Amino acid sequence: MSQKKTVLGLVGSPNPEGRTNQLVSAALEGAALAGASTELIQLKDSVVAPCQDCLPWVCKDNLKCSFPDEAFAFLSKKLLNCGALVLGTPVYWWDVSGLVKYMILKMFRVYARTGPLNGLPALGLATAGGTGNGLVSGLRPIYHFFQMMQMRALAPLPATRFNFQEALDRAAEQGGQLAGLADQRRPFASLEERLLWYDDLPYLGMSRAEERQLLAALTCRTLPEDISPAQGLARAEALKASGNPLESLKEIGRVYEAGVTLFEKD
Ligand SMILES: Cc1cc2nc3c(=O)[nH]c(=O)nc-3n(C[C@H](O)[C@H](O)[C@H](O)COP(=O)(O)O)c2cc1C
Repeated sequence: MSQKKTVLGLVGSPNPEGRTNQLVSAALEGAALAGASTELIQLKDSVVAPCQDCLPWVCKDNLKCSFPDEAFAFLSKKLLNCGALVLGTPVYWWDVSGLVKYMILKMFRVYARTGPLNGLPALGLATAGGTGNGLVSGLRPIYHFFQMMQMRALAPLPATRFNFQEALDRAAEQGGQLAGLADQRRPFASLEERLLWYDDLPYLGMSRAEERQLLAALTCRTLPEDISPAQGLARAEALKASGNPLESLKEIGRVYEAGVTLFEKD
């Protein structure tokens, strides 16, 4: 009988007690409940050094960074041997953390040409725990990593402090899904199939204005519909439809501010 593969969770925050850790842990708990073995790694304990973009480009052939980098050797081995991946980042400046970015860049350089992760099931989580801005743009570098490494990713999960409990529940569900996929990779047969798979995933193709609208909607999701912030979103839609995107975005901003104020009162 083949050995069960592990669902690997990587926490890309320097804070091992924070929201990123909670989300990744929720996904792994969901995977464990569904019968998978799991492993959680804090990237802060294995900080990958910056890629030097060496020329000649030796590492694409010998699959080894030319500079001593124990953290990269450790993490890349874990990635190459896992059955499924959960990668979580805190949102910093509407982007991923440095811990995540440095790992991704070195993985590209060494492994993107040979595609050893083709078909690996993966889930990306990003938590925008401050203003909430960047809840989608913070996911894009992770999903770009998955796409370039040919992983077969589940739908991304944008999380903010405004939808955090819901995000934890969804992470656990998706962790359960990963458990079911971890023993059998489904590699992509062609580049075209892979590109369409990623085009079909939700959130990633949103414009900046749509991302801001999503955030505003999350801040007032728990409010009754007749309360003015929620109605403001309908006004924003009407402004956009009448060819006034700037006023529409300003209205979304007012909804967001009002939603945050009410959220923080609770
Ligand atoms: C350098 C830095 C930049 C940040 N940028 C953003 C941001 O763009 N959007 C946001 O909503 N929160 C931002 N935050 C807040 C973090 O997303 C929030 O604290 C999150 O909970 C951190 O994850 P953690 O709890 O796992 O540490 C930033 C925090 C730091 C330290």
